[in-house]
Amino acid sequence: MGALAGKRVLLVIGGGIAAYKSLDLIRRLRERGAAVRCVLTKGAQEFVTPLAAASLAGQRAHTDLFDRADEADIGHIRLARDADAVVVAPATANLMARLAGGHAPDLASTVLLATTLPILIAPAMNVRMWLHPATQRNLAVLQGDGVAVVGPNVGRMAEAETGPGRMAEPEEIADAVEALLARSNGEKPLAGRHLLVTSGPTHEPIDPVRYLANRSSGKQGHAIAAAAAAAGARVTLVSGPVTLADPPGVTVVRIESAREMLAAVEAALPADIAVFAAAVADWRPAAFGGEKIKKGPEGPPPLTLTENPDILATIARRTEGRPPLVVGFAAETTDVIAHARAKIARKGCDLIVANDVSAATGVMGGDRNSVHLIGRDGSLETWPTLAKDEVARRLVARLAELVPSP
Ligand code: C5P
Repeated sequence: MGALAGKRVLLVIGGGIAAYKSLDLIRRLRERGAAVRCVLTKGAQEFVTPLAAASLAGQRAHTDLFDRADEADIGHIRLARDADAVVVAPATANLMARLAGGHAPDLASTVLLATTLPILIAPAMNVRMWLHPATQRNLAVLQGDGVAVVGPNVGRMAEAETGPGRMAEPEEIADAVEALLARSNGEKPLAGRHLLVTSGPTHEPIDPVRYLANRSSGKQGHAIAAAAAAAGARVTLVSGPVTLADPPGVTVVRIESAREMLAAVEAALPADIAVFAAAVADWRPAAFGGEKIKKGPEGPPPLTLTENPDILATIARRTEGRPPLVVGFAAETTDVIAHARAKIARKGCDLIVANDVSAATGVMGGDRNSVHLIGRDGSLETWPTLAKDEVARRLVARLAELVPSP
């Protein structure tokens, strides 16, 4: 039996060249057991025909808001209700704008406005349209409204440009539909598990009033804690100084320095999964005295540094009480993947989440992240640029798959 057995998906096909892949998506969804009903925008019909969609779906496709037969028979309100999820693929810039703005000039957008079902969009458009501030604004609005997003992927586009904009592959979209339905059914894949996560920067005291720090905001680590709690885990979040609110349902242990973080992590064990997302200072001032350093005629004091404990490596290399799944992060500004591969071996962890934090990416402190997942076996997976919350949800879903059974 397919993972979507008994589920009904309303597939809204938008007007883009990727619409041909939506025909394949119908097949994939049906293979997994879902019943699929299609709505095509006017633009979509320039690329694929309602007949093709209907043939693959095994039921008639809908195109018009004011279709006399339709309004008597099924109508837009029933289309908006008689399903378990709505999938928009391809979600064009125009469809995203209409949904974000609440405009409903045609059947597809009316259904999207009328529905209370979970919605998943698979954006597909020219890279410049995707990166345009208006589209990114609409994306943020939609995510804020609880719309799930899959893709777009990076790759060559129809216009021979390269960049983010390619629609996610049908299998990826079908996976995202499964995850969306699992979430909306309140499934708790990490129920009964303890997940430990470190987050934020550390502050390394120079004297009682001064410290060394870094620019980590803690957004990604905190989002992972929140997503793990939503997935049913008992979560301990060991956090350096951040300005973020505590995620709901999470035990937060606040520390300042790397050594305090290590002690708090050790005290929180045992855990089934440990995720080290904190930006731990590599060094601390060697000679921390209890008194404030005074300005004097001898000039500035020397700042001698000494190495901090590597928390990730310490925990990953434990022979006793090592969490079965240990995840590290690698924030790099060059050769992201090569450095991450070296790091996985050096630290002894099972998985590395690598991201490019060079200034131009805006990852540090920003709300979005582009990550690569690198496994101990050398496997590499590159995710599209996503909201940090979405990176967290996907990562947690993956950890739930990877964590060994208790
Ligand atoms: O070596 P690097 O700092 O790049 O490694 C990053 C990974 O190691 C992150 O997962 C970070 O949380 C962890 N780390 C740590 N303790 C340190 C330094 C890094 O846990 N002292």
